[in-house]
Amino acid sequence: MQVEELNATNCKSYLLVVGGEAALVDPVRERLATYAQLLRGRGLRLALVLETHTHADHLMLSRDAKEVLGAPVVMHRESPSPLVDRHVQDGDVLLLGGERIEVIHCPGHTPDSVSYRIPGGVLTGDTLLIGGSGRCDFPGGDAGKQYDAVTARLFSLPDETVVYPAHDYNGQTTSTIGTEKRTNPRFSGKTRGEYVALMGELGLPFPEKIQQSLQVNQSGFEAAEVTFPLVADIAAIPALSPAEVARRLASAAPPLVLDVREPEEFVGDLGHVPGSLPVPMDALAHRLPKLAGYVDREIVVVCRAGARSASAGAILGQAGFRHVKNLDGGMLAWTAAGLPVAH
Ligand SMILES: [Fe+2]
Repeated sequence: MQVEELNATNCKSYLLVVGGEAALVDPVRERLATYAQLLRGRGLRLALVLETHTHADHLMLSRDAKEVLGAPVVMHRESPSPLVDRHVQDGDVLLLGGERIEVIHCPGHTPDSVSYRIPGGVLTGDTLLIGGSGRCDFPGGDAGKQYDAVTARLFSLPDETVVYPAHDYNGQTTSTIGTEKRTNPRFSGKTRGEYVALMGELGLPFPEKIQQSLQVNQSGFEAAEVTFPLVADIAAIPALSPAEVARRLASAAPPLVLDVREPEEFVGDLGHVPGSLPVPMDALAHRLPKLAGYVDREIVVVCRAGARSASAGAILGQAGFRHVKNLDGGMLAWTAAGLPVAH
């Protein structure tokens, strides 16, 4: 398997090639035309688009971009986006031209972070960087889990395994597992507790494009299709556990459950909360008048992983709805809790 780095910028994308088949890893939307041209020019068939996680610093593929590339988008099952064609989990194996790509779940930077192990190498996303690691202070981040993923999973790969990170801010291209084990200052000689403390003290500014990128990437909608709320307004929406939502639904005054996923997700694998009302995110603003009767009643907003619903909850909050809650962890958490679903 041939590995080529494509962008020559801080945000790295990779092209994997086996024979006439190719996979794109972490493509950046603004470079779509370049990728399409490259594939066409070399007569390559794009078989897979692999995302290492939901990115906060660049726009991922949109609905339109997906159509241009014509390949299925692969992400971890905890990814919030509705634009994923194939959800994978730890241990899953994908094939490219007959060669193996193994999924290693590495939560920490985001809950949906994965590394892709390829012959002789590993694409580590923002989990393991050259001499560093991805920040863990975004919603859903967890430095302890990241330490475990790197030290127990990635560092157990053979020392000569080539590391292909999703970022580098110092012009470096690759490293190896052996080098990172010995010299990465975040992990070398550090206990889990020391790592968690260190990551908690980084105090990094939020990336410039986080506001425009993260909610777009989580929802699959363009900023032109949905007026996304401010991060502070999202943080103000209380989250309820699945068990607590189930308890309230069984009470004398049950909340309205508002499901903001796409229609195909509502009737898809995860099903939906029985009795919930489907209103996809891009239709929410138009449907607000019809929800007017709920201004003073409780509304629980639901989506796949709890990210889109937090944004939708903030949109409702801004519109004057006073008792809006978010189902923490979305339908993934609801089904994991064994609560009833309808299809
Ligand atoms: Fe990232």
